[in-house]
Amino acid sequence: MSKPSNPTASIVHRREFLSAAASSAAMPLLLDSTRSQAASKPVMVSPRDLIDVTLTVNGKKERISVDARVTLLDALREKIGLTGTKKGCDHGQCGACTVHVNGKRVLSCLTLAGMVEGEAITTIEGLSDITGGLHPMQQAFIDNDAFQCGYCTPGQIMSAVAVVSEGKAETEASVREAMSGNICRCAAYPNIVTAIMQAKMKMGA
Ligand code: FES
Ligand code: FES
Repeated sequence: MSKPSNPTASIVHRREFLSAAASSAAMPLLLDSTRSQAASKPVMVSPRDLIDVTLTVNGKKERISVDARVTLLDALREKIGLTGTKKGCDHGQCGACTVHVNGKRVLSCLTLAGMVEGEAITTIEGLSDITGGLHPMQQAFIDNDAFQCGYCTPGQIMSAVAVVSEGKAETEASVREAMSGNICRCAAYPNIVTAIMQAKMKMGA
């Protein structure tokens, strides 16, 4: 490979290239409203633009306008006012934000609100029965003192319900394994496991 005849020009070209690459990476998404418009006049849609999303939370439809990058966790807490779902790490590491989507446990801090439009979302507020009675898992946590500060508890309970329905609550060891994504800084783990084993019986699993 031959060396560039003018090293300064090469540096400038590299700078121009890097600058162009950086601006294209940061460039807002280009969407065209119609194919014919695309050639002449593209429509700029920034990720910061608000999008309308209808979420079905605890059986109720909630229409919200959010930045396209907003997580389900922030939408639930800040737009819909359901603050039972907790923000611990906001990075998928603690399980405090666990909710159910179509009955499966999901970390709401790693899920974009726009991704779950039309899906059935259940939060800790929606776990009790229609008369407001506690879910057997909620009652078991109370009966067994399965919390101290309680910050992790909504996520623990949502995960625990899913663990039972997943058939992973066969033994205390399998419960501990299946619940390993839910961290408790108060270390209430022994009582959490006992509560899950108790609730499993009442859930008919
Ligand atoms: Fe979602 Fe920690 S807040 S995993
Ligand atoms: Fe305090 Fe779990 S009860 S973090």
